[in-house]
Amino acid sequence: MKTKTAWQEFFDGHAPNYLENCFTKNTVAEVDFLIEALELAASTSVLDVGCGAGRHAIELARRGYRVTGVDLSAGMLEQARQDAQAAGVEVRWRQEHATAFEFSDSFDAVICLCEGAFGLLGRGDDPIGQPSAILGRVEASMKPSAKCLFTVLNGFAMTRRHSNADVVDNIFDPLGLTELSNVQPRPVAGGGHLRERGFVPTELTLLFQMAGLPVLNIWGGTAGNWGRRPVDLDEMEIMVLACKPPDLSN
Ligand SMILES: C[S@@+](CC[C@H](N)C(=O)[O-])C[C@H]1O[C@@H](n2cnc3c(N)ncnc32)[C@H](O)[C@@H]1O
Repeated sequence: MKTKTAWQEFFDGHAPNYLENCFTKNTVAEVDFLIEALELAASTSVLDVGCGAGRHAIELARRGYRVTGVDLSAGMLEQARQDAQAAGVEVRWRQEHATAFEFSDSFDAVICLCEGAFGLLGRGDDPIGQPSAILGRVEASMKPSAKCLFTVLNGFAMTRRHSNADVVDNIFDPLGLTELSNVQPRPVAGGGHLRERGFVPTELTLLFQMAGLPVLNIWGGTAGNWGRRPVDLDEMEIMVLACKPPDLSN
């Protein structure tokens, strides 16, 4: 793969400690929720985009699903491979860019969780083009009638925690709804290029619709507090459930 992106570099370095983050501690309950919300029948196929250290992919595989995990970070994928081996499960791992992956097979469901690439912008990434490209790849990888579930940063909360001074200081860009990331540990040199993108429900509905994925529901989606409940303006993340329309050509 070519020169590493800033996010790739960040996650490669963070991989050994990623699962120490408190927001990763609810995986079993999150997978319970995913199975119900995505109406996953037994043994069906699931694609995890931005799978990271594979916590959802591995838990789904443990429950008998056929899982593929895609991530840009070799470090995160190595962690995922080790954890899958320790759990005694098979997962297909692929190092791919979320805007450019392609599979010959298609999937019964797709997940993209905890900002799994969606809205994690590097230098030069367009705040509309990046998420649109990911949705294009997701749609292309889904079987007709398949569902997808995303959790993304909440643009309301992002806006409410910034001031006009932050706009002047280039910390927050209201045009792209992006902020300079303050992820810890502090990123590699040049990490100032790491930007995170917030989304609001109307825009999510439009982006998903334009990708051919009509939205079924939007709920609050902060890690550790998933549920079929309204979005709280100040919470970290929003959850989107969408569906690829059925193929009516036959
Ligand atoms: C916050 S982690 C979330 C990991 C996992 N989904 C979870 O819930 O724990 C974001 C992941 O997205 C990956 N990522 C970031 N940009 C990406 C891109 N453009 N293509 C593929 N993966 C990317 C990172 O390497 C990282 O593993």
